[in-house]
Formats: sequence, C-alpha cells, structure tokens
Amino acid sequence: MTATSTLTPAALRAQIPSLAQTVHLAACSIAPRSTSMDQALAVMLDDLARPGFWNAAEHQVTDARRRFAQLIGADVDQVAVLPNVGIAAHQVVSGMRWRRRRDLLTTTADFPGVAHVWLAQEKRGARVRWCGPRTGRVTAEDYLRAITTDTALVSVPAVTHRDATRLTVRRIADAAHAAGATVIVDAYQATGVMPLNVDALRCDYLITGTGKYLLGLPGLAILYARHPDGPAPGLTGWMGRPDPHALDATRLDFPSHARRFETGTPAVAAAYAAVAGLTLIQQLDLTAVRDHTQRLIASAAHRLTCQGEIVDLAQNPAERGAHLTLIEPHAWAMATWLDEHGIAVAARRGIVRIAVHAYTNNDDIDALCDAIAGYRVAPRTRTPIGASR
Ligand SMILES: Cc1ncc(COP(=O)(O)O)c(C=O)c1O
Repeated sequence: MTATSTLTPAALRAQIPSLAQTVHLAACSIAPRSTSMDQALAVMLDDLARPGFWNAAEHQVTDARRRFAQLIGADVDQVAVLPNVGIAAHQVVSGMRWRRRRDLLTTTADFPGVAHVWLAQEKRGARVRWCGPRTGRVTAEDYLRAITTDTALVSVPAVTHRDATRLTVRRIADAAHAAGATVIVDAYQATGVMPLNVDALRCDYLITGTGKYLLGLPGLAILYARHPDGPAPGLTGWMGRPDPHALDATRLDFPSHARRFETGTPAVAAAYAAVAGLTLIQQLDLTAVRDHTQRLIASAAHRLTCQGEIVDLAQNPAERGAHLTLIEPHAWAMATWLDEHGIAVAARRGIVRIAVHAYTNNDDIDALCDAIAGYRVAPRTRTPIGASR
C-alpha cells in the first residue's frame, strides 16, 4: 500500500457487512451495499427532514464531481454529472457534426447502450464502422487497422462488459489523434478497480457510472471532457447554465466548463451514495487493488478450468479486466442457483461473469469454485436458454 492509501482490503471488507454471509462477485453489474452507503443514505433522509435539503444535495453533487475528477487526474471543470452512461455518450456525440469526417469507429464489444447511441447518430450523417470480430475478443490492433482519415470519433471500452478485455486505450488514442480523430472511453468496467488517469489514457472523453466498482448506486454517471468548451450538447436543462440559479427562462447560455453537459436535477440518493463510494475508493491503493484482483482472477480461472469449466480469459494478463467470464449456456439457471447458495455473480446470455474487487478474498474464490462444482452435480430443473434478460 502507498503512503496515501489508508484503507486496506480487510478494512474495506469490514465496511461491507453482508460479506460475512454472502459472496459478492457481481461488481461488474452492481456494487455491494457498504456501511458508508447506508450512512450516506441515512444522512440524505436526515437532510430531507431539515430545511436546506437542496443546498445539502447540491453539495453532494459538487463533492461527487470533485472526488471523481481527483480519481482520474482531471480538473473539476472537466467533469459533468449525468443520469446514466447512455445520456453521457449522447451528450458527447450530439454536438458533433458529421460532414467531412463521417466515421464513428466502435466495436461490437462496446456496451450495447453506448453503441445504440452511436447508431442513432446515423440519422444525423454519421457512419458507424465496426472493428474487431463480430463475436470474440477485440484487440487494439483491430482499432489500429480500422482508423482512417475519415474517422471522426473512436469509441473504446476501457474493459469490455462481456469478456473483460482490457484495451490499451493509449495506443488506440495515439493512432486516432494522429489521424485527426477524437477518442471516447467507456470506463464503467474499470473505474474504481484499477488506476485510471485521463492523461495517461490520452482520451478526449471518458464516461462511467457510479453503480459498479465505484461502490455507489446506479442513477449517476460521470462525463469527463478534455476540452469541454466545444459545441453545445443535444440535451440541456437548468443545471447546464453558467449560473443555474439565475433561472432565466429566456436565456440559453452554456458555460465553458463541463457542466454545460448537465441537464436537470440528478438522482440525489445516487449522489449521496456516489460520494460514499468514491470516498472509499480514494482511500485504496488502486495499483495494489489491480494486482490483487489479477491474482484472484488467475487463481479462479485455473481452478475452474481444472474443474472442467470453460473460461473466457485474455491470454495476456495485462489485457484482463476485473471479471472472469464463464461460458455457460444456462447462465441464468447457474446464477440463480449460486444466488440461492449465497453467491452473487452477474449473468448475461450465455455467460456468467465473476467480478472481483479489493474486498474479494481467497475464501470467496474457494466458495465460488466449490459451489460451481456442487451445481454441476446437483439435481435441478434447467431454465431454458434465453429465458431471462
Ligand atoms: C461498460 C458499460 N457501459 C455502460 C453500461 C450501462 O450504463 P447506463 O445504464 O448507465 O447507461 C454498462 C452497464 O452494464 C457497462 O458495463
């Protein structure tokens, strides 16, 4: 741990009392409930019962912005708070013009909700280009081959949501910039569980949310913009004004800082929870967390493979994110069975994702592997493939 990190993995674990009874391996989908989150929500309810609630809530949003900026090495004026990642993506792209350069380069491994925002730009003149295999692992080389002088925007997931491929954003960003393109990174599967610095990534925009590894609640997303004073975004609201409290219905002016991307009142409970989560994350040594999660992923992959499971994991450890993907046609049946046995994982069609964080320990991995071995021999009725979302 570094001199600035004050929260050990064991201390973080103690902050999540439910881990005494359950194994939480689902942070790629939803954060576990922490004592800090409970306290923050209790404070919110107290604030609600007092005069001055809006001041208190605004303070939380300001604090979330500031803490997130610190976490990624940005200036607070480069950070906006939005309701979800889809809207954050929309805010970035809706101000762009698709004239001389029309290509928006993405990958089928992008989160669908983000890719859908890109596809929606085709009616405005953009041409969505896909790189990488239709299914399977996308690589930085796929991007490098696909970037051309027609590319206007390159969308890169820092870590892909299905197979947890960690892309070398910096290489892609350098190539994109050399071709004159702009780079947006979806870091929802990365923020909070590995060091991320926007200057090291060299991205122009970064979008993420607080409900997963950042240990907050869904309902709040963050947008980083390197140069926030560009064209006006497609959505706006009173929070997007230079002085929101001017409340002048006749004047649509945009500040030069990133709050120009903001819209109306954010989900206040999520803002309180975001500050609680960010406060915990800021006390961790994220380099040590990255090493810790990689050790756990390697040992889970080894053990599950020895048990006969099919694990989809990048060969190169540097290209792994913080979750492990198990190929399982009856993913929802397995996830439900594990859930009933006190183990939370995150299923998607055809896969079960096993996410680790600083609070995860070897006992959790043992419990998971034993439970999966138990699942394989347990009598059960299988849920049909694709029966759930
Ligand atoms: C990489 C990634 N981006 C975006 C999202 C969804 O973001 P939102 O629902 O806030 O639009 C997810 C959620 O699962 C995700 O994993």
